[in-house]
Amino acid sequence: MPTSLDHIDWFRHTSPYIRSHRGRTFVIHLGSGALDSPSFPHLIHDLALLHLLGVKLVLVHATRGEIELALDALGIEGTLHRGVRVTTEEVLGVVRDVVASQRLQLESQLSTGLPDSPMHGSKLRVVSGNFVTARPLGIVDGVDFQFTGAVRRLDAVGMSGVLDNEGILLLSPLGFSLTGEVFNIGANELATAAAIALGADKLIIMDKAAGLLDKAGELMRQLTVEDARQTLLDDPVQKEHRDAACRACDQGVHRAHIISYERNGALIEELFTHDGGGTLISQDVYEQVRRAHADDIAGVLDLIRPLEDQGILVRRSRERLEREIDNFRVLERDGRIIACAALYPFRDSNTAEIACVATHEDYRGGGRGQHLLSLLEEEARSLSVQSLFVLTTQSTHWFLEQGFSETSLDQLPTERRALYNLQRNSKALIRQIG
Ligand SMILES: CC(C)(COP(=O)(O)OP(=O)(O)OC[C@H]1O[C@@H](n2cnc3c(N)ncnc32)[C@H](O)[C@@H]1OP(=O)(O)O)[C@@H](O)C(=O)NCCC(=O)NCCS
Repeated sequence: MPTSLDHIDWFRHTSPYIRSHRGRTFVIHLGSGALDSPSFPHLIHDLALLHLLGVKLVLVHATRGEIELALDALGIEGTLHRGVRVTTEEVLGVVRDVVASQRLQLESQLSTGLPDSPMHGSKLRVVSGNFVTARPLGIVDGVDFQFTGAVRRLDAVGMSGVLDNEGILLLSPLGFSLTGEVFNIGANELATAAAIALGADKLIIMDKAAGLLDKAGELMRQLTVEDARQTLLDDPVQKEHRDAACRACDQGVHRAHIISYERNGALIEELFTHDGGGTLISQDVYEQVRRAHADDIAGVLDLIRPLEDQGILVRRSRERLEREIDNFRVLERDGRIIACAALYPFRDSNTAEIACVATHEDYRGGGRGQHLLSLLEEEARSLSVQSLFVLTTQSTHWFLEQGFSETSLDQLPTERRALYNLQRNSKALIRQIG
């Protein structure tokens, strides 16, 4: 059991995640069995917490397993073709009942608020409606799918309206046709289509398994879309989730996560810890180095403030960072800035200063600092800079290992010398690159 200090420490470390998730749209696919899982009450609390933290939530509940159980109980024989249910009129009646019962369960659970529960005072507004227009799947290989449908259109404006008004959008895997008929739609398809239509930041697929598992049953933690597509999976449900995740990422959803609903806290772990607990699929490489922009200021400040407090880096005000953000390059990992470095060219003297090189302490030793430095070096070369210098108090040896050598302050450009902070007593190091 962690001590209360561990809790406090963990809570402090969540601030970058809270900031990065606020105002974002997450589509959460609750896989078959989720509502009956012993962890479901905790999941409801976690969803309420995300909502409270400003995440726009769309919930899609899957019904496949539950429909199978209901059909068995009624002695109705269901037919699958190519893994897709044929929805006869009789089956549609069962589908309606299962959907209605799940919807009521979700709505009632999201309405709880007893004084001694984590839901106390949460007042969640859950909204569902006719946001999904469906078309019949039709006849495939001579098999008439009848009331099995596919998503034809989603009312993205209406759905966004719900989210903008702080509602939680609940989508059931049913759609309506222009002829007024009801169609049974796959939850994977619906969740993916909703994530794409809303330009969601995340599609989170919650299922029984911890995530995507390789042949040896090991959890695959991070995959690019390309790698995920090449991964051989035996389990048809895993394949479906993988394909849904890849499709979403192909069409602009930033990240897709596959996590377990069985594990208490899996959603929080995935969203508020460095490495999460499930599988993350993203289009880009998981870590990306890029130019910083105004939206990164808060993330850069989160990274450098502790180092400034320790006197390792020179204190920069937010205003100064706002002015100088164009000089920064950042390394982003799953929406979070984990390393940065800045380049300040001095055009008159063909030199440039490297400053504010920092890697979050959890990610040090992976070559990130070196990578950022070589990137800045390349940029400096393209600006015809002949030498790079740096002022540092505690990382002299690191820069020596990167090919810098100690120099005297008179080697620095005059305007930089004028700003030299004598109290810090930093060492100057230089490296010729031209
Ligand atoms: C210096 C810093 C940016 C390196 O980041 P990083 O991503 O870990 O960099 P790399 O992975 O490329 O380099 C890691 C290597 O440098 C070594 N190293 C890290 N900091 C060092 C330091 N202050 N002195 C000497 N060596 C250091 C590590 O031990 C590691 O070596 P190893 O692989 O032999 O164990 C990071 O330690 C940091 O943020 N330091 C605090 C901020 C700072 O001092 N910045 C410089 C002033 S602008």
